[in-house]
Amino acid sequence: MDVQSFIDENIKEIKDTVGEKKAIVALSGGVDSSATAVLAHRAIGDQLISVFIDDGLMRENEPETVKDIFEGLGIDLKIIDAGDEFLDALKGIEDPEEKRKAFRNTFYTTFGGLVKESGANYLLQGTIAADIVETKGGVKTQHNVLEQIGIDPETYGFGVIEPLKELYKPEVRLVGESLGLPEEIHQRMPFPGPGLATRVIGEVTPERVEIVRKATKIVEDETKELRPFQAFAVLMNDMATGVEGGERTFGNIIIVRSVESENAITAEVTKIPYEKLENMQRRITSEIPEVTRVVFDITPKPPATIEYI
Ligand code: XMP
Repeated sequence: MDVQSFIDENIKEIKDTVGEKKAIVALSGGVDSSATAVLAHRAIGDQLISVFIDDGLMRENEPETVKDIFEGLGIDLKIIDAGDEFLDALKGIEDPEEKRKAFRNTFYTTFGGLVKESGANYLLQGTIAADIVETKGGVKTQHNVLEQIGIDPETYGFGVIEPLKELYKPEVRLVGESLGLPEEIHQRMPFPGPGLATRVIGEVTPERVEIVRKATKIVEDETKELRPFQAFAVLMNDMATGVEGGERTFGNIIIVRSVESENAITAEVTKIPYEKLENMQRRITSEIPEVTRVVFDITPKPPATIEYI
């Protein structure tokens, strides 16, 4: 693929499609939605409304970092603080599928409201080829998305634009790089849509999210130079005994997971040097007092999946 021709052609196509109207994009901070937003901004400038829904389930400093990066690129990013809505929706839910459902519904309600309020006629989506391959059931993504956010395309004359839909991740990274996105975005590890809610087994509470957020930061820091496909922390919904200052304690268990993969369909466990594992354990148990135990997951995919829920 010739990256520059891809960019030029898509800028022209977005410009021709949107014309004098407005378009909206929801950024997640990942490479797909970021590349989509920059491409669209090059095409239609301020006719593009870029929003970032802060669901309270992001990694440390993620909303601030994304805002700074986009400001640096001359793109005005509207941050919507919806953390309370998401945490309320997740309250009391332990079942993984129910959690995903609660997350999705809250996302669609929030985003649907923003789309209607914005007066936009086009929705830009960072769908990539793998997303389409993985979407089973024959419902077109476009119709599905509009239906989910409560918009009838006929009534609004609404359209969906998916400039990256024929690209695979490595090509998207090249496009992102060529569009001037910093390395921390174009080389970013995949991070699930429902964010840290997928990394907390059992109920998602603000306190539990905070534990896994801190542990995630440590795992990302400590594995950075190994450049794993994905490395993260998971909070178990069980407790384990510990000892501190001669006293028995009862605390949380953090699982460290790091995998290598091409496409997330299969994955091998990263061969992390033992000293690095020890470092992670030391940092996690000393910087997060609620954690008494750290374990390392040695299961490839299959038989395990990459994520825990
Ligand atoms: P699994 O756990 O199925 O994950 O081996 C495969 C890849 O998909 C990512 N993943 C998600 N991404 N929303 C997403 O956007 C989700 O709900 C979700 N669940 C898993 C996962 O991080 C891995 O890269």
